Amino acid sequence: MPAINSIVATADEMTAWRRDLHAHPELGFEEVRTSDIVAQKLASWGIEVTRGLATTGLVGTLRNGTSSRAIGIRADMDALPMTEATGFDHASRTPGRMHACGHDGHTTMLLGAARHLAETRNFDGTVHFIFQPAEEGGGGGRIMVEEGLFDRFPCDMVFGLHNDTTLPVGTITAVEGRVCAAADRFWVHITGRGGHAAAPHRSIDPVVVGSHIVLALQSIVSRRTSPLDSVVISVTQFHAGSAGNVIPEEAVLNGTVRTLRAEVQDEIEGLMRQVIEATAAAHGATAVLDYGRGYPPVVNNPAATERAARAAARVVGVENVLRERLPGMGGEDFSYMAQRVPGCFLRVGQVANGRGAVAAHHPLYDFNDDILPLGASLWASLVEQELPRG
Ligand code: NI
Repeated sequence: MPAINSIVATADEMTAWRRDLHAHPELGFEEVRTSDIVAQKLASWGIEVTRGLATTGLVGTLRNGTSSRAIGIRADMDALPMTEATGFDHASRTPGRMHACGHDGHTTMLLGAARHLAETRNFDGTVHFIFQPAEEGGGGGRIMVEEGLFDRFPCDMVFGLHNDTTLPVGTITAVEGRVCAAADRFWVHITGRGGHAAAPHRSIDPVVVGSHIVLALQSIVSRRTSPLDSVVISVTQFHAGSAGNVIPEEAVLNGTVRTLRAEVQDEIEGLMRQVIEATAAAHGATAVLDYGRGYPPVVNNPAATERAARAAARVVGVENVLRERLPGMGGEDFSYMAQRVPGCFLRVGQVANGRGAVAAHHPLYDFNDDILPLGASLWASLVEQELPRG
């Protein structure tokens, strides 16, 4: 695998960067230490740094030659509000904070590419290294775009990547079209009538009503959505009550909806409202759906995907670049960037020798440091390919 030799030579150093970030995870919009480290490294390599985008986000700009062409490459910096269980020496030092999605690795890969490009300058044009906060639900990417990211740092194309715990090391996906789902959130507020648990007939039990609603929602995907459309409805929280002998007055459900097409997204919201309100009414209760639209689907631009696939092939070989793959139902706020500028979101396999296969967002998740040089080489190759010297 021809990852760039001079990048491979710095693998140990990149691993040290990644593990330092890993030991000090920060939640969305709180990436102060991370952002300081990234800014300091970029500046030390002579890269112009602009800070304060979406609070803790930053952009490093590297210009070379005379071409007006520019590309953006984005990494995410935030961690998750969960406690790590790996027991590694470099495990999170903060309970309730963990880099369980590998954003520490994505940040390190982009830093590795930035250093290589700043040192070798084998390109003609401008690279914007975009380090965004709060990918995990905070919409840091959306805020950066709304704050004028691409007005201040115009890009002809934008690229991002995520590690993949289901693909082997040395595999990269570059797939046209939809690769991630729309990720919406919902709450259901159920109001019954509280009372003594020994006299349920004098109450309207919101726990029973909520249970019916949870089950009724399952039939939307199985019975009312076309089998050819992909939809996920997951109820993930059910809150009610305060005592063993009291029927509570209210219950609250919370969950997420994932869809790939806007028409289906609209349809699901309407069906959920109907099912929730009617189910509650059938039991003499009331229920209100509070539905919040989240990240739109990531849609990879055909031309940008073609360019990314070509760069990936230079690093891992054309036979290891997957051009077709079913989309995932996860959300990604890279979507906001790809809505504004032709973009491509890639996945980089990280499974090898029994390492790297624990799913993201699991307390035992482990980013495989072996793919750091590969990701950095991918970005550097892409820049040298897209911004060729005369
Ligand atoms: Ni992630």
